[in-house]
Parts: sequence; C-alpha cells; structure tokens
Amino acid sequence: MFSRYKKDGAAGKSAMGANVTELPKKASSEPVAPLAPKASTSLRRPSTNAPAAAPAGDKEAKRRERIADLKLELHRELLDNLNLAALENATEADLRAEINAITDEVLASKNVVLNRNDRTTLNKELFDEVKGLGPLETLLQDETVNDILVNGPKQIFVERNGKLMLSDITFKDEKHLMRIIDKIVSAVGRRVDESNPYVDARLQDGSRFNAMVPPIAVDGSLVSIRKFKKDKLGIDDLVAFGAFSEEMAAYLQAAVSTRLNIIVSGGTGSGKTTTLNALSSFIADDERILTIEDTAELQLQQTHVGRMESRPPNVEGKGEVSPRDCLKNALRMRPDRIIVGETRGEEVIDMLQAMNTGHDGSMTTIHANNPRDGISRLENMVAMAGIEMPLKAVRSQISSAVNLLVQASRLQDGSRRMTSITEITGMEGDVISMQEIFRFQRVGLTPDNKIIGHFTATGVRSHFSERFRLWGYDLPASLFEPVAAE
Ligand SMILES: Nc1ncnc2c1ncn2[C@@H]1O[C@H](COP(=O)(O)OP(=O)(O)OP(=O)(O)O)[C@@H](O)[C@H]1O
Ligand SMILES: [Mg+2]
Repeated sequence: MFSRYKKDGAAGKSAMGANVTELPKKASSEPVAPLAPKASTSLRRPSTNAPAAAPAGDKEAKRRERIADLKLELHRELLDNLNLAALENATEADLRAEINAITDEVLASKNVVLNRNDRTTLNKELFDEVKGLGPLETLLQDETVNDILVNGPKQIFVERNGKLMLSDITFKDEKHLMRIIDKIVSAVGRRVDESNPYVDARLQDGSRFNAMVPPIAVDGSLVSIRKFKKDKLGIDDLVAFGAFSEEMAAYLQAAVSTRLNIIVSGGTGSGKTTTLNALSSFIADDERILTIEDTAELQLQQTHVGRMESRPPNVEGKGEVSPRDCLKNALRMRPDRIIVGETRGEEVIDMLQAMNTGHDGSMTTIHANNPRDGISRLENMVAMAGIEMPLKAVRSQISSAVNLLVQASRLQDGSRRMTSITEITGMEGDVISMQEIFRFQRVGLTPDNKIIGHFTATGVRSHFSERFRLWGYDLPASLFEPVAAE
C-alpha cells in the first residue's frame, strides 16, 4: 500500500526498513536525541534495565520527550518518502493505514516498544503532521475552544468559555512551528518570512488566522486563530446565554426590520461579529444583501447574499483590493443592504455615505469601548481618511447616517454581554445627541468572581417608536420600563 504514495525515486526500497536504519546519521544535523536502545528505556514496557530511581514526574517528562523525538524522526522520514501529490487524493483510511505500517516498521527496526496509548497518540500526531496542522489540529477540532493563541513554540493558550488558559500542547521547536505556519500561508498563496513577517489568512475550515514571525516576534512566532463556528450563535442562543434580554431582542428585531442603520461597537473578541451575524437574521429573505469582510466570517441565512472578501497587497505590494474598493463597487451592485464586517479605515466615508443615501438598514462593527467612544472613533476615522470637513459637518453626517449603537462587551468574568443599546437622535448644537434605551446593570460579584447583574430598559421612550409603529412593530410600552433591581 505504501508504494502507492511513495516518491518515484524511493520505489525500489523495501518498505521503510532500508531508510530507517540510516536515520541516526541523517538526523545528526539537528538536535534530535538519538534513540539508542539504552537511552530509550523509558519508551519500553517496564523491563529490568529501567532506571529505578527516576522520580515519576521526571520519567513522564522524559517519556514525552522521547515520543516527541521519535515523532519528529518518523515525520521527517514520512516527508522524505511519501509522494505528497498522491497523498492529496488518498483517503483518510488509506493514509492512516500507511502511517500505521510505517510506524510499525520504524519502531521494530529500532527495537522500540510503545504501549497502546502512546502508539495511538503517535499515529494521530503523525497523521495531523502530514495531513493537518500538527499540534494545532487537536485544538482546532476541540469544539470547546474558541481562540487559539500561540506565543512561540512552547506556549499555546486557548480560550474556553471566555477564559484564557494555558494548554499542555506544544510544538517541538520554532522550526516546527514555522513549518506549520508556512503550510497554512502557502496554501492560500501567501508567504511569511523575515522580510514579510506578518500575515493574515483563512484556514480551510473558515477560521481566521494571523501570524507574526521573528525577528518582529521576539520570542518565537506569534499565532492567533479565531475558530470558525459552523453554527453561529443565533438570537435565541444569545438570549439563552444571557448575552441580552428578550426585550432587547424584540427591540432589535424592530430596529433591523425597519431598516435602522446599526453599528455594533465593542473591544477585541467582545462578540461584535457574532452580534452582527445574529442581527442579520432579522433581515427579510427577499432583500439583496452584500457583505464585505477582511475574512469572511458572517453566515447569513438569507438566500440573496453576495459575499466579498477584501485582499491585502501581495509580496510585491500589488493587487490590493481594500474594503473601501469593495464598498465602492458594492454600491454599484444594487444592494438593499450592505454589511461591512468591520469599519476601521477610510471606508468609513463610503459607509456613512451609503447609510445616508438609500441603503438604510446597513450594518457594521467598530472597535470602541462604549457608545460615546464609538462616535469619537467614527470621527477620527473620517479625519484620518483625509477628508477636510469641519468637525460639526462630520458629526452631522454621522448623526444622520447612524441610528443605533449596540455595545458588545467581554466582562471580566469572561462573559460576553450586550451592555448598551443607544439611539442617536440628532444634533444639539455641535454635539451628537444620544439616548440609551437598554443597558446591563451590574450589581455585584459572586464569591467566585462571576458578575451579578441584569438587563434593564432605561425608561426612555424610543426615538423610533413612531417608525416602528408605522412599519407594523407596535412594541408594548412595558418593553421600555426599567426592571427593578432584585
Ligand atoms: N454571548 C456570547 N456567549 C458566548 N460566546 C460568545 C458570545 N458572543 C461571542 N462569543 C464567542 O466569542 C468569540 C469571539 O466572538 P466574535 O468573533 O463575535 O468577537 P469579535 O468582537 O468580532 O472579535 P474580533 O475583535 O476579533 O473581530 C467567538 O468564538 C464567539 O463564538
Ligand atoms: Mg469580529
């Protein structure tokens, strides 16, 4: 079976045996610990020559180290000998069987015996190395993991339930980590090296990937992955998770359906994209929606959706298609609504213009910690885009373009909540006037540092009540009544 995937030049050799015996010599250029029988005692089943005095923790660490070395050696052997082009089409079962067979032979030729668990782990890790993304593969497949953050080869943090924790998964060394990064970026036709030290990409499963390599990353490559969730959290899930209340959901349904222009604001990883995606579910199915993102994350349920992904410049600095280019083009594509994944630069001009000129019901996200900051951020973006306009004129543009600011926050206990829904009601003199309609009221902390609080209306009547009513969304007055603290 192996010969099917073997490189042509290697075809004559009898399975792996011939090559394997040469391994220790080949490996000498790299710091791979030799697997001489004596040094590998800890890999074997308990035998008479096992080092009796070694403490258990030490022994376990050594055992892991040995397996890591063995894996590296086997992997190099696999890469040297497998016909990678043929592998592309191999079925998973074939490849697993192949790896099994090769491992068997190499282990036998080295007189190394592994217990069943170690064998299974070794085979899985080898498969992940050849076919997948090495150590990252386990984390990518772990449904409970949201984000993966790699700080050099020996430190991988993961986010579970809003909390960051150190995982026990590591790369062998920086070279190993770089190889996986290379594999990811070359698959999307990009390159990352000293002269081009950072890169954005999308993994095959849709996850968002960013890497920065040395020397800019001082202690080894930095990788951040935002896992793609096949089933994005919907409105019902978010209400069930306590991200916002049913009253807020009813209000937001009216706001989206009656085509208010909405900005979701929030910090990094606060749930902006998730909120935007959930809000989009209120859009009617007969509307033509165009989405523009750096990395396509949104998953709209409607049938009439055109998705665009902007493109950074290539290695020669050419070929860029900026979010602004996409947005300008989108305006010629007869959209009913435009959704921009994140507004962070000069595209803000076109976004505000679109919102002001007939593309009501458009939505985007911005990076800001509260609604007021969100407005300042918009003003700054306009200024940075090089538009010479008096501040008052900028503000008046913003106030007539944006109707609603929805604030997403990741609180200190890791929970993500919609902490404010704020309407923009116009201008008062030089200032944009706003009124908060709903907020999250914090009341305290539990002994284990979970935030106690509740969502409440502020008691302010919505500026858009009449509009809602005219569009058939007659929201009950009780929706806007404050909830008394328990
Ligand atoms: N209310 C929630 N409850 C639990 N998990 C959530 C909630 N909202 C978002 N998440 C999860 O948190 C992670 C970050 O969410 P999301 O991508 O929406 O954040 P973001 O603000 O867009 O991040 P970024 O700034 O990186 O673009 C995702 O994995 C998402 O599934
Ligand atoms: Mg996002």
